[in-house]
Amino acid sequence: MSTYRVEEVGDGFYVLRVNDRYTRFFEALWEIPEGITYNAYLLKTGEGDVLFDGWKKPFAGMLLDALEQVTSPDRLRYVVVNHMEPDHSGSLEEVVMWAPGVKVLGHPMAGRMMKAYPRAKERFKPVRDGEVLELGGERIRFIHTPWLHWPETMMSWIETKDILVTCDAFGGYGVFYGLFDDECTRWEDALRAMQKYVVTVIGHYKQWIGKNIAKLEKLGVKPKLIAPAHGLIWRRDPQRVIELYKELGEAQAKKGKVLVVYASMYGTVETMIRRITCELSRKGYKPVVYGYTDSTRPYIAEILTDAIDAEAVILAAPTYEADVFPLLRLAAEEICWKASDGKKAVIVSSYGWGSIAAKHLRKIMEGCNYSVVETIEYNAIGPLAITSEEARKIAEQVVAALEK
Ligand SMILES: Cc1cc2nc3c(=O)[nH]c(=O)nc-3n(C[C@H](O)[C@H](O)[C@H](O)COP(=O)(O)O)c2cc1C
Ligand SMILES: [Fe+2]
Ligand SMILES: [Fe+2]
Repeated sequence: MSTYRVEEVGDGFYVLRVNDRYTRFFEALWEIPEGITYNAYLLKTGEGDVLFDGWKKPFAGMLLDALEQVTSPDRLRYVVVNHMEPDHSGSLEEVVMWAPGVKVLGHPMAGRMMKAYPRAKERFKPVRDGEVLELGGERIRFIHTPWLHWPETMMSWIETKDILVTCDAFGGYGVFYGLFDDECTRWEDALRAMQKYVVTVIGHYKQWIGKNIAKLEKLGVKPKLIAPAHGLIWRRDPQRVIELYKELGEAQAKKGKVLVVYASMYGTVETMIRRITCELSRKGYKPVVYGYTDSTRPYIAEILTDAIDAEAVILAAPTYEADVFPLLRLAAEEICWKASDGKKAVIVSSYGWGSIAAKHLRKIMEGCNYSVVETIEYNAIGPLAITSEEARKIAEQVVAALEK
């Protein structure tokens, strides 16, 4: 059951948050058993109220219920669309129908993307980068923050209250971790869910995290409260989430962390991987291992979460129909797309009659700025074809390549 919450989180500043427990695959891709929240915000002023963002379409009715608790159709003056992705804009038309006098504000590109919401489009007024809205004693500055997460994305800086409404930026997955950063419910899980959100949703544009944070700093934006559209609201230590995002944007590596992703139909590759991970641990590395086998199917979102801060990646796959085993090809391509940053990669592959997987995997990884330090191709059908001595040699070769 999905539930919602309306709560005053600052003086005259309210969160309207719905816990989405239905979506299992965010953007039809990312596995999220931890769920996701959509956080809209409402600011009360002396001359009416401003709503920032909204909820995904299936929750439009609930959003109107939530709005009734804090405002009314005649009090609501503006809806700010910080981002047009339908997890936030999906209920826009319903909100405009509920409050027909409302004005809709957003990036000029947002207006052009509003075809699905004709009434909202009619009420739309674009805002320039840095433009200020003064209303009932409050000053709201709109700051364009491209590619966090789309080109039309912006933040709303409530200068009079030191509150930054950030939409996707500084957000995270998860409905179980409380409302605020100081509630500390399952803190480590919350941080991991945030890391997973960053890499899956913003990972491809991660260089824009640093650029936009630098832009905010240059403008002197020092929020006392960071109000993102997903997950925790940061009030105890807003600087902390800024630093965390910066680190992830730079794909900073954790010392010794090695991501190992392999596929194995009949155990040949798995036999090599067992020896490799054993050797890695012996040498003080911290391998994180995901295997596609006849009994295990890891989540791609979790693999990516561990790719972003790994020092190196080991990809291992059998040759399959003259190509890379398909699930591993997908994993490699996504790691490339979302998490590459000049790091080391090792390719391990096995084949029965003609090695192709290794070459293809190498091409994928080199195509996105990984430096492939070793490629191993092993001819074998079934794990019994590899002697213990051979497996040991392969493992040593892999670890030696990482240490070069
Ligand atoms: C469905 C299937 C397709 C395969 N296709 C190829 C191929 O195109 N070329 C090749 O050299 N070997 C091919 N092989 C052989 C495997 O690549 C080889 O046996 C490998 O060592 C299997 O590793 P695994 O035991 O970890 O699954 C194929 C094997 C299977 C089961
Ligand atoms: Fe988004
Ligand atoms: Fe979003």
